[in-house]
Amino acid sequence: MPLDIIIGTQWGDEGKGRVVDMLSARADLVARYNGGDNAGHTVTVGTQTFKLHQIPSGIIHPSAVGVIGNGVVINPATLLAEMEMLRGNHIEVDARRLRISHAAHLITPAHRALDHAQEQARGKSQIGTTGRGIGPAYTDKAARMGIRMEEMLDIPTFRRRIESHVEEANQVLAGLFRAEALDPQTVADEYCGYAETLHDYITDTSALVWGALRKGQSVLAEGAQGTLLDIDHGTYPFVTSSNPTAPGVLPGLGVGFGYIGRIIGVTKAFQSRVGAGPFPTEVLGDAATRLRGTGSNPWDEFGTTTGRPRRVGWLDGVLLRYAVRINGLSELVVTKLDVLSGLRMVKICTAYRANGKEYNDLPMGPADLSPFEPVYEEMPGWEPDLTGVRSWSDLPQPAQNYLERIAEISGISVCQVSVGPEREQVVDL
Ligand code: GDP
Ligand code: IMO
Ligand code: MG
Repeated sequence: MPLDIIIGTQWGDEGKGRVVDMLSARADLVARYNGGDNAGHTVTVGTQTFKLHQIPSGIIHPSAVGVIGNGVVINPATLLAEMEMLRGNHIEVDARRLRISHAAHLITPAHRALDHAQEQARGKSQIGTTGRGIGPAYTDKAARMGIRMEEMLDIPTFRRRIESHVEEANQVLAGLFRAEALDPQTVADEYCGYAETLHDYITDTSALVWGALRKGQSVLAEGAQGTLLDIDHGTYPFVTSSNPTAPGVLPGLGVGFGYIGRIIGVTKAFQSRVGAGPFPTEVLGDAATRLRGTGSNPWDEFGTTTGRPRRVGWLDGVLLRYAVRINGLSELVVTKLDVLSGLRMVKICTAYRANGKEYNDLPMGPADLSPFEPVYEEMPGWEPDLTGVRSWSDLPQPAQNYLERIAEISGISVCQVSVGPEREQVVDL
């Protein structure tokens, strides 16, 4: 069963990049299937830290081929900058090591301008998007007017498509939002340049993945964002515009059900969220600063893509159980356990309370969480620094108890615990 899937169980930034990096050592293909450069996946190898937005994190391993599937939306400027960054760090990125789906959609400056204009227009109800044009790019896809990578293969026609796309967007930007119009020719010149560079990378990645699976090779699907940001199953409308959940892998890569193996949920030992929307276990003030950090460590809770301080809170067991269900998770990786060292006690939400009743599961999805108050269990914390721990028996008893409780609450086992951002800072269970 060679198609393993890595999924964020929360609102993104669970540490998926570092988990993908661990598993990529044994993967032939590592494939992104959703989202765009709204993602920010961090991989730390020794003294080097890579922040990847558009290219699968697995590319850092020389044996893995990176795949950008048809479900992804692509900002070519980010993509090319990332390719250069990797090459500057002696990681080869050529058309053999990176394959891009002909059916993936392009993000353009018009999409970014629309994203900003729509956010402005929302006023107090802003979603807090990353401003990368993700929503408008997927809107065009669903409206059957998006521009796909394969259109780059015929540059004269592509030029006309970009020009008319910008002209149409200008009508909305200037007419509806009173925003500045873009120059169609400038955008077309820029994008025709990208088309020349990316020509050789474009292929039918669904056929590539299928071929690999048929040969018994292993494919790792790298989810971006997280379960609660899923457009169908997340905290709608405070979500992204794609399906980060495991079912999204199938249309996002163009594969069927037959090859799926492990579906690994990545969960932080606490919880974070960038942008607006419900967050029942959110903490504020000093307690939040303690979980977030002040920005002095590279792993402190500030957005990898936008630098915004992340909202933080205690682990929410109700939402974790929901993520197990929606994704059909087979196991969990718990990250950032080291950050909880030194707390006198740790809290975990085991149920919600509303109108005098207790709920173990969500009665009607996570879109409206306002009626619910978290029911917490308090557990003793632990003092020792965990960053050097590499085995279960070396974890302090209270940390073991906390992990066992996470497994009980979620109903699935914890297969790995990460105790620092670096490759080897991990405990295999
Ligand atoms: P992603 O979007 O899910 O890939 O996560 P991000 O890369 O946006 O954010 C996770 C942050 O936590 C990054 O800075 C990682 O280097 C860091 N990180 C991941 N696992 C651990 C861990 O176990 N301990 C610590 N201290 N940092 C971690
Ligand atoms: P990774 O892959 C955390 C959030 C934004 C906003 C909402 C919609 O690094 O986990 P969008 O720009 O997608 O239209 O914004 O989704 N968001 C993320 N939050 N991690 C991410 O990616 C995110 N990608 C989008 O902050 O609340
Ligand atoms: Mg991230």
